[in-house]
Amino acid sequence: MKKSISTFLKHPTKDNSNRSANPPVTRASTILFNSMQELVDHEKKTKSNKKISYYSYGRYGSTTTIELENILKRLEEAYHVFLTGTGFGGVALAIMSLCRPGDEILVSDNVYGPTKEISEHLIKEFNIDAKFYNPDDFNDLKDKITKKTKMILVENPGSNTFEFQDLSKIVKLAKRKKIITFLDNTWGTPLYLKPLKLGFDMSFCSATKYFSGHSDAMGGSLAVNKKVFKKVMFFYKLSGYRMSADEAYLIIRGLRTLDIRLSKHYENTKKVINFLKKQKKIKEILYPHKPSSKNYKLWKKYYTGANGLFSIVIKSKKKTSVVKFVNKLELFGIGYSWGGFESLVLLQDLRIKTKYTVARKYFRFAKDEHIVRLHIGLEDPKDLIDDLKKSLRYIK
Ligand SMILES: Cc1ncc(COP(=O)(O)O)c(C=O)c1O
Repeated sequence: MKKSISTFLKHPTKDNSNRSANPPVTRASTILFNSMQELVDHEKKTKSNKKISYYSYGRYGSTTTIELENILKRLEEAYHVFLTGTGFGGVALAIMSLCRPGDEILVSDNVYGPTKEISEHLIKEFNIDAKFYNPDDFNDLKDKITKKTKMILVENPGSNTFEFQDLSKIVKLAKRKKIITFLDNTWGTPLYLKPLKLGFDMSFCSATKYFSGHSDAMGGSLAVNKKVFKKVMFFYKLSGYRMSADEAYLIIRGLRTLDIRLSKHYENTKKVINFLKKQKKIKEILYPHKPSSKNYKLWKKYYTGANGLFSIVIKSKKKTSVVKFVNKLELFGIGYSWGGFESLVLLQDLRIKTKYTVARKYFRFAKDEHIVRLHIGLEDPKDLIDDLKKSLRYIK
């Protein structure tokens, strides 16, 4: 019987050995074999990506991580899924596996901060150059391609400013020019968008966010097609990337309710946005909610759902009053990350350039327009709206 993804997520695994409804957490370094021949045969299977139920050594994972790999393989419709200890490890794994000295990578200007930093700072030390393109201008991306372009790295929608791009156009162009494509799909998750089906070579998600959903685990998932599998596997094994069995277990547990949580985040977010769009102090809401907008049309073209993460643009000559608004919120925690059960808030200054951070190059907001990122959690939206209403008064 072919099961829907919602049903599959409730019944992905069965633990026949101990009759538990959940998979065991297998913590292991040494894996024992019955003979040398069995060990050698098993290693051959792993190398050729044959289905296995355990790895030959704990550095590559355990039965628990294989369980998670298999769930994500089905969700992503992937040839293989590599698990990493943090989400960012998955981004680094993709770049370091496939780019070599003399190559260039083209990176969407609105990607997650550390993705900009690795592109701008670290890979330069390996003689790999990065160029940032305007996510609102496909021609800018096209014009920046050279004979050296090895990879196009897209995040959709972009971190903090949430621009949506025409993904099929990017894939088509990249295929024509024989360029590898990577999509950070943490916002959409493979439930709402399947990048590999669209033609991307790699689909990445920070499992720390909606996969885990409970702000207590970290991990990354890099789903790949057959074309890039060997190169990524080569680097993965020799660089010691791995996810622990405990994190894998928590992420499997989170995935069981991914569909339910995402639709509740979305339902709550629509209610909060309905309130926010009537507030004069808010100039713009960066979320695909206006059917006439370009972002809405591109979201609708590719996604089957949305979630709880967006930004509001507050126009104020007094930045301190915006800081006060953020500080006064009681139900929105101030902190990094998102995708957990709870509401969060962050004032984002994307203009700052330091030794470590890379400022946005294509930034359409004025100096007195402040970007506040909100994550709408699973609380009662009425309480969240009351909290916002009370705190918005502090903005001058
Ligand atoms: C869009 C996006 N990609 C990647 C990451 C990195 O994930 P992690 O925090 O799990 O390392 C983040 C983290 O905030 C993110 O927001």
